[in-house]
Amino acid sequence: MQRTLAPKVSGWSVMLAWSAACTGGGGAQRPAASVAREPFGTTDQGAAVNVYTLKNAHGMEVRATSYGGIILSLKVPDRNGRFDDVVLGYDSLSDYQRASPYFGAIIGRYGNRIAGGRFTLDGRTYTLARNNGPNHLHGGLKGFDKVVWDVAPFEHPDSVGLVFRYRSPDGEEGYPGTLQATVTYTLTDRNELIFDYLGTTDRATPVNLTQHSYFNLAGDGKGDILGHVVTLNADHFTPVDSTLIPTGEIRAVAGTPFDFRTPTAIGARIAQDDEQLRYGRGYDHNFVLNKGGTGGSPGEGAALTLAARVYEPSTGRVMEIYTTEPGMQFYTGNFLDGTLRGKHGVVYRHRYGFAMETQHFPDTPNKPDFPSTTLHPGEQYRSQTIYKFAVQP
Ligand code: BGC
Repeated sequence: MQRTLAPKVSGWSVMLAWSAACTGGGGAQRPAASVAREPFGTTDQGAAVNVYTLKNAHGMEVRATSYGGIILSLKVPDRNGRFDDVVLGYDSLSDYQRASPYFGAIIGRYGNRIAGGRFTLDGRTYTLARNNGPNHLHGGLKGFDKVVWDVAPFEHPDSVGLVFRYRSPDGEEGYPGTLQATVTYTLTDRNELIFDYLGTTDRATPVNLTQHSYFNLAGDGKGDILGHVVTLNADHFTPVDSTLIPTGEIRAVAGTPFDFRTPTAIGARIAQDDEQLRYGRGYDHNFVLNKGGTGGSPGEGAALTLAARVYEPSTGRVMEIYTTEPGMQFYTGNFLDGTLRGKHGVVYRHRYGFAMETQHFPDTPNKPDFPSTTLHPGEQYRSQTIYKFAVQP
């Protein structure tokens, strides 16, 4: 699935807006879609950071920053047309820099865990930071969630968006090769938020990029997410050891609390006495998405298929996730414990948000049987994920 990523806009400074009437929409005039930029402060290292606000023709709004590509807020309508922010996060850049469990960020170079912070590639062993117990997590001490990206906004007749670019130098966080990463956020007038990931390298390297927004479709801070009704298009998941590293087994979900093939509340079975739920302290597992036979290794151009559907009964909000990736980490905010104070002073208590991180499987660099995450020079890493919002009565 190839899209045109070239930004159409350059040299703008304050605000761009147009009305659908101007773009040949016809009929009644709709609100203008727009993209705007403002300063968001300066990092501890002195880099200037901006915040960008995208709005579509239906009033859906995404705010994202050049620091980590973090989605600060995402406003979507409920069944009565009322808009709420449905993602967790902080108000200030300094809060994100101080202590964030990856709220809303782009994750790289390798999303999820690598066992023991080690892997061997082309006969050479690489050592990475062990920043999660004995393991490496989400790219290390300063992953793609903590770097300042170059951002170029764009507008198309039925969408607005941002192109994030980052050049990760050879050896950064212990990974081999210079990786050129481009991540595009597109907000469409179909209430979709589309993520396109591209990458190239000058030496073979593992790459596994994802997005780490935490959702609460009832609204940020409006309680836990246990009542959300989830459907996952996955017949299998990858069970883990007590440090959340996959054992290598691809296990059928049938007959387990991991069977979300029919709509089921997150909380319905989360407290069951199950070894995998104990290890994850709830759901914190990679689901093997049903892909209908397509592979999905870097550069292969895998098919875009439905991964998940989430319905929040009190507001009617629905989020569907489509992806080219073979897996998805479903994480139910088990490590949120009331110690983080988020936007507008909200305290994030246990399971106040969930994440659905589309990805290749955890620890693939040490698991030759999993779909490969190795990107070679001359190949293009390509991945797409769509979050589509709707309402249900
Ligand atoms: C991991 C969790 C972790 C969370 C925040 C998720 O991707 O699977 O174990 O707590 O990210 O770091």
